[in-house]
Amino acid sequence: MAPRKIIIDTDPGQDDAVAILLALASPEEVDVLGVTAVAGNVPLELTAKNARIVCELAGHTQIPVYAGCDRPLNRPLVTAEHVHGKTGLDGPVLPDPEMPLAEGHAVDFIIETLRAHDPGTVTLCPLGPLTNIATAFQKAPDIVDRVQEIVLMGGAYFEVGNITPAAEFNIYVDPEAADIVFKSGAHIVVMPLDVTHDALVTPHRNDAFRALDSKVGHAVAEMTDFFERFDKEKYGSEGAPLHDPCVTAYLIRPELFSGRHINVEIETQSELTLGMTVADWWRVTDRAPNAMFMGDVDAQGFFDLLTERLARL
Ligand code: RIB
Ligand code: CA
Repeated sequence: MAPRKIIIDTDPGQDDAVAILLALASPEEVDVLGVTAVAGNVPLELTAKNARIVCELAGHTQIPVYAGCDRPLNRPLVTAEHVHGKTGLDGPVLPDPEMPLAEGHAVDFIIETLRAHDPGTVTLCPLGPLTNIATAFQKAPDIVDRVQEIVLMGGAYFEVGNITPAAEFNIYVDPEAADIVFKSGAHIVVMPLDVTHDALVTPHRNDAFRALDSKVGHAVAEMTDFFERFDKEKYGSEGAPLHDPCVTAYLIRPELFSGRHINVEIETQSELTLGMTVADWWRVTDRAPNAMFMGDVDAQGFFDLLTERLARL
């Protein structure tokens, strides 16, 4: 089967970095047409820099990296340096990128790419706030029907919030953008905290990354050593949750995940629950299903795949 053409929309972020590395290590299943940076974990200047750092770490400087939106649609940017560090990629010492940013705005790249490829052949993989995707849909409504699928990391139901009691970070930062995407009619697969909080980098699993004894292996282990502090302190968890790599792993081995096709709507009005993904998991309403909302992951299978593929870089 031909590899799936994708655009990775991202706010690196250590977990975004691992998701990009996994994609670039899997050419049989995934053809990365480009990477689009969005403001999120850290401001746009840093996410656009970090995305290039990761492509260079993977030895894939041919991948075009575009800078996108530097703030949410209708509200000030909220960042997460408390989780990812000042640079957004704290942990390993990695060289500044030599590859330049690609010419043009990320939103225009998304629009032009979807128009240039046959309908239903390009998948969007948002790993951060949905600002770039929503802006592209608003600017060029014709592209929505051309999207094969949106496979995104965001939201939560049983796990509730990680940035507020009710909301997950990616959705919380730009709830209006998320509302546009979830109401767009595009086919959506959601990797919520309900799944990503099971994808924990335990010490044993991080040792397996280190044991690869490669630039990539050591960099991933050092990113995890830094990134795990927040979740270990907050949740007492056994290690860092690899949120965004769940998106890439789904493209490679979807059978690692299971969930329900349900209705998911975004809270955009209430200050108390702003950014909450109101997932009708128990189908108690007659609201039409609009997303495949994942609930379970084979965590060991996920890490076995990740470790095997990172060994290729
Ligand atoms: O809530 C986790 C998500 O927010 C991940 O994508 C992480 O990188 C941050 O963007
Ligand atoms: Ca992210």
